[in-house]
Amino acid sequence: MLFAGIIWKNKIMAESKLNKLYDWLDERTGIKEITREALDEPIRGGARWAYVFGSILLFLFAIQVVTGIFLTMYYVPSADHAHASVSYIQKAVPGGALLRGLHHYGATAMVILAVAHLAQTFLFGAYKKKRELLWAAGVIMLLIIFAFSFTGYLLPWDQAAYFGTKVGASIAGEIPVVGPVQQRIMLGGNDLTTVTLSRFFTTHVFLLPLGLAALVGLHLYLFRRATPAGPFHNRDDKKIERFYPKQVFKDSVAILICFVALVAAAKYWPAELGPVADPTSDYLARPPWYFMPLFQLLKYSPGKWAIIPTVVLPAVLFGALFLLPFFDRREERHPLRRPLATALLILILGGSIGLIFLARHQDRTNPEFAEKLKQQEEDMHAYFAKPFEPQIVGGAAAALAASGKAQEPPPAYSENCAACHGDNGEGSPIAVGLIGVSSKPQRSKEDLLKILDDAKPYGLKKPMPESFPKIPPEDKQKIVEWMMTLKAQ
Ligand code: HEC
Repeated sequence: MLFAGIIWKNKIMAESKLNKLYDWLDERTGIKEITREALDEPIRGGARWAYVFGSILLFLFAIQVVTGIFLTMYYVPSADHAHASVSYIQKAVPGGALLRGLHHYGATAMVILAVAHLAQTFLFGAYKKKRELLWAAGVIMLLIIFAFSFTGYLLPWDQAAYFGTKVGASIAGEIPVVGPVQQRIMLGGNDLTTVTLSRFFTTHVFLLPLGLAALVGLHLYLFRRATPAGPFHNRDDKKIERFYPKQVFKDSVAILICFVALVAAAKYWPAELGPVADPTSDYLARPPWYFMPLFQLLKYSPGKWAIIPTVVLPAVLFGALFLLPFFDRREERHPLRRPLATALLILILGGSIGLIFLARHQDRTNPEFAEKLKQQEEDMHAYFAKPFEPQIVGGAAAALAASGKAQEPPPAYSENCAACHGDNGEGSPIAVGLIGVSSKPQRSKEDLLKILDDAKPYGLKKPMPESFPKIPPEDKQKIVEWMMTLKAQ
C-alpha cells in the first residue's frame, strides 16, 4: 500500500513537472494555441477517407527526406563510384537494402498518391472559388515530384538508369528552340558524364527538396486560409467536425497502412540494381513505369510527330491543369453534374493505365526485343544476386605497385592486354581492372588459362576478345601467373 502510494505521488509530481515545462514552453512559443489551432481545424461535412491523401503525401515526403539523408551518407555522386556505392548500400550496409527499398518505393508511392490527391480534388470540384492558388501550387508540386523521379532514376548509374536517362534527355532536346540549350545545361555537356551525375544529384538533394518544402508550406497555408471545401453536395454543409479526433484517426490509419505496405515491398521485392552502366553497350532502354504512357504514344508518332507525345501533350496537359480553376468558374461541384470534366478525368487516367499495360504486353510478345529485354533482366538478377565486391581502382593499383609487392607485367601482357586493362592491370574506361581477379568465382588459375584460349564458355562481354591465337602458350602461362599475383590489399 505504502509502495503504491509512493509511486502514485511520484507520478503526480512528474506530471506536474511536465506541465510546468509545457507552461514554460508555451509562454515563450505559444505552443498551446498552435496545437489547438492545428487540431481544431473545422471540416465541413465531417471527416472522410477521401481526405487522407494530403496527409499521406506529407508523411511520404518526410520518409523520403529521412531515408534520403541516410542514403547520402554512403552515396558518391561520381560516374566512377556511384554504382559501387549504391551496390555497397544494397548488399553490404546493415539495413541498407531496407533503407534503399523504402526510398525507392516511397518515390513510387508519392507519384501514385499525388495523382490520387489531384484526382480527388478534381472530382470533388474542390479547386473552385478561393482555392485557385491552392490548386496551382499543387500542380507545380506534382511537376516537382516527377522531377525528383527523373533525377533520382539516374543516380544508381546502372544500365537501366544510364540508358533510361539518355532517352529522357534526348526527348528534352527535342523541344523546339530551347531544347538543345536546355539539354546541354541539364547534362553539363552533350553526353551523360560524371558532370551530369553531379548536376542531377545536386538538383535531387538540394534544389528540389527546397522547392518542394517551400511549396508544401505555401500549400498548407493557403489550405488553412481557404478552409477545406467539404462535400460536393450541399446537404450536410451545416455539419462541422474538428480535425481532431475523427480525421486525425482516419489519416493515421491510412499512414500506417501505407508505411506497412512500404516496408513489406522493400523487404519482399527489394529495389533492383543492375550491372554498372556501360556506355558502349547496346542496352535497350525502358523508361520508369509512370513515363510509359508517353513512351507508348511515341511508338505511334513517327518522325517529326514524335514531338506530340513528348512535348506538346505533357505541356498542354499541365498547362490545362494549372489554369483549370481560372477558366472553370461555374459554382457546380457535383461530379455527375460536370459530365465533361468527369469523363475527361476517367479518360486520361484510364487511358494512361491502359497504355502502361499495352507497353508491357508488347515488350513481352514482340519478337524483335522480347529476347533482349529478357536477357537484360536476367543480367540484372545475376548481378543483383552476387555478393558485394569492393571496387579496386587506379589508386589501389598504384599503391600495390608502390608497395613493391607487385611484379612487372610480362611483355606479352603489355602487348596484348594493357591497352584495355591498363599498364598494371588497374583497368580503364574500356575494361575492368584485373586486381584481385583470381579471388573471383570462375577465375582460378585453370579458368584464367582457359579464358585466354577460349573465353566463350565464360560469357565475357565485348570488347574482351574470345581468344588470343597469336600468343604462344608459354606466354599465356606467364600472363596468368602474373595475374595470380595481383592481390587486393
Ligand atoms: C579490346 C579490349 C580488351 C583486350 C585487348 C583484353 N581484354 Fe580482357 N576484358 C575486356 C573487357 C571489356 C572485359 C570485361 C568483360 C565482362 O565484364 O564481361 C574483360 C574481362 C577480362 C577478364 C575477366 C575479368 C573479371 O573480372 O572477371 C580477364 C581475366 C581478362 N579480361 C583478361 C585479359 C587478358 C589476359 C588479356 C590479354 C591477353 C585481355 N583480357 C585483353 C577487354 C579486353
